[in-house]
Amino acid sequence: MQPAPAKNVDPRGAGYAGMAACMDCHKGIGGTYVHAAHAMTSRIANIHTVDGPFGRGTGSGASAAGATRDNEFIYDAGHKVIMEQRDSGLYQVAVTERVREAHRFDIAVGSGRKAQTYLYWKGDGVFQLPVSYFVTEHSWANSPYYPPDSIWFDRAVNVGCFECHSSYIGTKAMLHTNFFEGTPQYDRATVVYGIDCERCHGPGALHAAWQREHPEDTVGRYMAKFARLTRQQRLDVCAVCHSGAHTGQLRSVFLFKPGDTLSNYYFADPRLSKAPENTDVHGNQYELLIASQCYLQSKTLECGSCHDVHVRERENLAVFAARCMNCHVPAGGHAGVEVARGGHLDGRVGGVKVDRAFLINNCIDCHMPARASARITLLTQQQKDPVADLVRSHYITVYPEESKKRLAALAPH
Ligand code: HEC
Ligand code: HEC
Ligand code: HEC
Ligand code: HEC
Ligand code: HEC
Ligand code: HEC
Ligand code: HEC
Repeated sequence: MQPAPAKNVDPRGAGYAGMAACMDCHKGIGGTYVHAAHAMTSRIANIHTVDGPFGRGTGSGASAAGATRDNEFIYDAGHKVIMEQRDSGLYQVAVTERVREAHRFDIAVGSGRKAQTYLYWKGDGVFQLPVSYFVTEHSWANSPYYPPDSIWFDRAVNVGCFECHSSYIGTKAMLHTNFFEGTPQYDRATVVYGIDCERCHGPGALHAAWQREHPEDTVGRYMAKFARLTRQQRLDVCAVCHSGAHTGQLRSVFLFKPGDTLSNYYFADPRLSKAPENTDVHGNQYELLIASQCYLQSKTLECGSCHDVHVRERENLAVFAARCMNCHVPAGGHAGVEVARGGHLDGRVGGVKVDRAFLINNCIDCHMPARASARITLLTQQQKDPVADLVRSHYITVYPEESKKRLAALAPH
């Protein structure tokens, strides 16, 4: 007999238990997961979750307009936005000759790896604030898609942001201003912030209830088994959010569960490029990976070959190089892992003799270099031209220019 799920308050419905329930039993995974990028990718904005400074010092340097306060973003002599901490929250205050308009930081999007963008509620609509924070440049920056010379607060945020950066938001209606554009009206009480366990694992209320009633059962019941999925199904779990923004959805991807086929959620998009050199590095990890020989010539390679999403492992390049070497080994290999042609078995790169530590430390930079995204650029206070977001390319191959750069760093000065 199926167990009766506990009284449920999850906005996604009775099938869902919510992350706190999962963490009651899965303490190990839960403990590391809360610090990982997915869990932190959307949060209620407050002084702890917004990474940019609110102090009035002048630590971050000068702009064309002279010394800039840390809590200001200056457009030109007549326009600036001041980041203010007040009793009722954090605000972006636009100051021009004629107006002073303030909106509160309500939602912070981005774990803070590279950048954060902030959203605010107006009625049942959600809008983007004009100023974002560019973490790697330590600078407030003009939000993507806003003009560099005037202050706007009116970019309505569509459900796509939430589909990739949160676990759920309920939509009430669409306000149509014209044929092409609509402003979605959301139900504020239904937001499930961050990407939670059930976003990837599927609804888990029955599982949680069963395991609670049967503490002696060491097999996970009523829970999708990743081990039984095909490679494509496993890839699709990640491709929901890592294969670009698709147009023409047939069904909301909030409904996607492990085992589903992602292509059933979209109309085919003929404009999507199959060529890795035409594919933007931002958000397209799936397309780039499946164009790589590592994927094409192996039976097992998938996202999980290199990533454990329950743990924050970002930029730990030696850990990732070890995962390459699970397959690219001189002989034998590890149990259960495919063996591919060993790279650099003669200890050489492009004919130059290098040591093992050099190979391991530069493995990722030579074969998966960070590339500039053409889609995501931010205009910072210090720069005249927008600065591109750098994203690791998942097109794994030989990049002769990158190798030359790494080898040049070896040469004695
Ligand atoms: C009352 C305790 C309990 C709760 C609550 C619970 N689990 Fe489990 N879960 C278990 C046990 C016991 C197993 C089996 C042993 C194992 O794999 O760790 C398991 C197994 C799993 C598995 C592995 C399934 C497989 O065999 O591949 C996943 C995934 C999982 N749980 C996810 C979740 C999620 C998501 C939630 C929250 C919705 C959750 N669990 C809530 C106890 C619990
Ligand atoms: C199709 C999925 C998708 C959509 C839609 C999407 N994003 Fe993202 N976003 C991602 C992925 C994946 C990353 C991180 C990896 C990358 O850059 O390729 C990311 C990165 C970001 C980052 C940087 C996070 C950090 O910590 O460095 C911000 C900020 C961001 N997105 C904001 C937004 C906003 C605001 C919207 C809506 C206007 C949006 N995104 C829409 C998938 C998406
Ligand atoms: C971004 C997607 C994603 C999220 C979010 C996620 N998981 Fe997983 N989880 C996976 C994948 C993929 C696997 C399979 C790993 C493998 O076998 O390669 C997995 C495996 C598991 C397993 C079984 C294997 C193991 O490592 O013990 C458990 C239990 C589990 N997850 C629990 C959780 C819990 C609890 C949460 C939330 C705190 C969570 N997961 C969040 C993707 C996710
Ligand atoms: C619901 C959408 C969603 C799903 C499903 C998803 N991701 Fe992500 N992923 C994101 C977003 C958004 C980010 C950017 C997070 C940030 O830094 O704010 C991200 C970031 C990452 C990162 C960078 C982590 C870091 O520390 O910076 C990795 C690696 C990653 N995802 C792998 C995966 C894998 C593997 C899967 C499938 C098991 C998966 N993702 C499923 C949305 C998703
Ligand atoms: C699941 C196994 C597997 C993993 C993990 C793996 N590869 Fe591969 N890789 C292959 C296979 C199979 C090939 C193609 C056949 C061969 O070269 O043996 C390949 C080919 C390559 C090539 C040649 C590409 C070309 O365009 O000619 C490079 C370079 C490479 N891999 C680097 C890496 C790096 C770096 C990593 C880690 C970031 C990695 N691989 C992880 C299996 C894997
Ligand atoms: C062969 C190994 C390998 C595979 C397979 C792989 N990745 Fe990665 N991924 C890496 C490495 C190495 C990095 C760089 C580590 C870092 O900087 O955090 C990375 C970084 C990322 C990032 C952060 C990119 C950035 O620069 O912000 C995301 C997102 C990501 N991977 C998602 C995925 C997804 C989704 C898949 C499956 C479609 C996948 N990865 C498959 C090796 C791999
Ligand atoms: C300094 C840059 C650099 C580093 C570090 C590096 N590679 Fe390479 N790799 C290359 C170049 C260049 C080639 C093309 C063949 C050559 O010139 O040696 C190559 C070729 C390969 C090939 C294809 C096999 C072949 O002989 O054509 C594989 C597989 C590979 N590398 C894997 C790795 C792995 C795994 C690591 C890290 C553990 C790594 N490489 C570290 C630059 C590098």
